[in-house]
Amino acid sequence: MQKMNDLKKLKEVAVSAAVDAGRLLKTKLKQARKIEFKGEIDLVTEMDRASEDLIIGRFRSSFPDIGILTEESDEIQSLSKYRWIIDPLDGTTNYAHGFPFFCVSIALEENRQVVLGVVYDPNFDELFIAEKGKGSFLNGEKISPSTTNRISDALLATGFPYDIRRSKQNNIEEFSRFALVARAIRRPGSAVLDLCYVACGRSDGFWELKLQPWDMAAGSLIITEAGGMITDLRGAPFCLNGKNILASNGRIHHAMLEVLNQG
Ligand code: IPD
Ligand code: CA
Ligand code: CA
Repeated sequence: MQKMNDLKKLKEVAVSAAVDAGRLLKTKLKQARKIEFKGEIDLVTEMDRASEDLIIGRFRSSFPDIGILTEESDEIQSLSKYRWIIDPLDGTTNYAHGFPFFCVSIALEENRQVVLGVVYDPNFDELFIAEKGKGSFLNGEKISPSTTNRISDALLATGFPYDIRRSKQNNIEEFSRFALVARAIRRPGSAVLDLCYVACGRSDGFWELKLQPWDMAAGSLIITEAGGMITDLRGAPFCLNGKNILASNGRIHHAMLEVLNQG
């Protein structure tokens, strides 16, 4: 009973923090923003930090004992079995250009397993939630992946790493191969939403290299709880620290692995 109450409270606070942070991001979208560079093309805006401050503030006051791994600050370590994993603004490049496709992502781990995923997209007012063993929901409605069986009928999504100009592992070859066999490919600019879109059947598959745990934590549970499949790019079990992800409706997973491993 205690455990149920714990999770209920954790979920409530996570949902309200994600929604409030997302709304804050949306209200400031049209205003001038201070942009800094973390790398050649890797940006951070003052709003990444404002969103993160809001979320961390809520979590520290409601659950001071739970550790936090988040993109823009040092990890807060703790002895708790729980840990938050936060991307306060997924889609920063879009945001910095005023391109309205981004979200807030919050995951909760229990003993290093993701048990809750909350993603809020303020532009479409869409809230994706998954709880371990309870399915995935979009604005309260249960979601599931598409039934597309063939890559030639598939809409795929991907992204490119921030070291695209310097590294040969930059997804260009994989992208070219898929471009010739899929119906179409998109590069939406938010890995978190890319995962949610596979989970609810808006796209059929998504792959990306060099992602961080906060890009994948919430979305990975939203996919699996919806009934989709995730592995690494070779078909091995997905691992949050493994950097690479292939997510699909399950039906085209094997065919996507073949294309990825043709090179
Ligand atoms: C990025 C986005 C993008 C993906 C990058 C991520 P950020 O996250 O998810 O779609 O291609 O690899 O780093 O920097 O906007 O939080
Ligand atoms: Ca991100
Ligand atoms: Ca981010």
